Amino acid sequence: MVNVAVLGYGTVGAGVVNVLMTNADMITRKVGTEVRVKYVLDLRDFPGTPVEDIVTHDFNDIANDADVNVVVETMGGLHPAYEFTKQALEAGKNVCTSNKELVAEFGVELCELATKHSVNYMFEASCGGGIPIIRALNTSLMGEKIEMVSGILNGTTNYIMTSMYEKSVDFATCLKEAQDLGYAELHPEADIEGHDAQRKIAILSSLAYGKHISYKDVPCQGITQIDTTDMAYAKKMGMKIKLLATSKVTEDGVWAMVAPKLVGPDMILYAVDDVLNAVYVEGNCLGPAMFYGSGAGSLPTASAVVSDILDCAQNLHTTVKKDITDELLPLLPLDDVKN
Ligand code: HSE
Repeated sequence: MVNVAVLGYGTVGAGVVNVLMTNADMITRKVGTEVRVKYVLDLRDFPGTPVEDIVTHDFNDIANDADVNVVVETMGGLHPAYEFTKQALEAGKNVCTSNKELVAEFGVELCELATKHSVNYMFEASCGGGIPIIRALNTSLMGEKIEMVSGILNGTTNYIMTSMYEKSVDFATCLKEAQDLGYAELHPEADIEGHDAQRKIAILSSLAYGKHISYKDVPCQGITQIDTTDMAYAKKMGMKIKLLATSKVTEDGVWAMVAPKLVGPDMILYAVDDVLNAVYVEGNCLGPAMFYGSGAGSLPTASAVVSDILDCAQNLHTTVKKDITDELLPLLPLDDVKN
């Protein structure tokens, strides 16, 4: 059995529990062992819900429980997520997170800490919601020299831009809708000022180019200046306005930026509307590749977190099986068996 503790029962945390419970039988079959949610850490109680008996308000219950193999950090924000993550890794627990703010700020340090303690710090859900872009960059595209990463990396702003364009709805109403649908950050300034996309392009570029790129060095402009008149002009020109996050390798180094751009129907990102995200990658051998899918929301983001949990669970299960196999006595010679 693999035991999971979920820190933060908000939009994503509740989604993770939902996915693990809904798909429990299939997950057990695929992983080869049960993946159980043993704790949910939150300041609140959740009476009458499937987690009412496993809620704790004390992180030490989790850190000190040797049976907890995987900690899921879906609290968001830097603190206390950073301290809890460090404590979990130091206690030899794998950590899976959707917290792009934490990954962008402390990801390098936390990955190093995980390596030191022979565990994993995994963050598939930090970029592009449910799109498996981190795993693609780390595995499938490992042999590629990536030359460019460009995409729509924020679902909230894409939802706003799409609604303003298609329905001529004003900015504030679209933002409220995105918040109600669980797409926006707790403080939506991170979405509309472009900082969420700025963190995501820094994370993706660091993985793509194998060099740490600080989000603080990425010039960033959000969508708060775009109004319905801009939209009307874009439409007149047969174009849309999208918040693009782009980085490129140049002779002088890596160039990156986040800004609203006019996108024409000849561009592949033109058709990426609503809460959808897309990441366009160019490799030196592969050429272009495009990753497209649900960029925000409870279940899509939870799906990415669960992929990391199951990756850890499979490794843990293999390790357990291997340990048992190592303890087996050698097979007796055939002649001895006959006797
Ligand atoms: N607020 C983020 C977005 C959530 O809208 O894309 C997913 O990272």
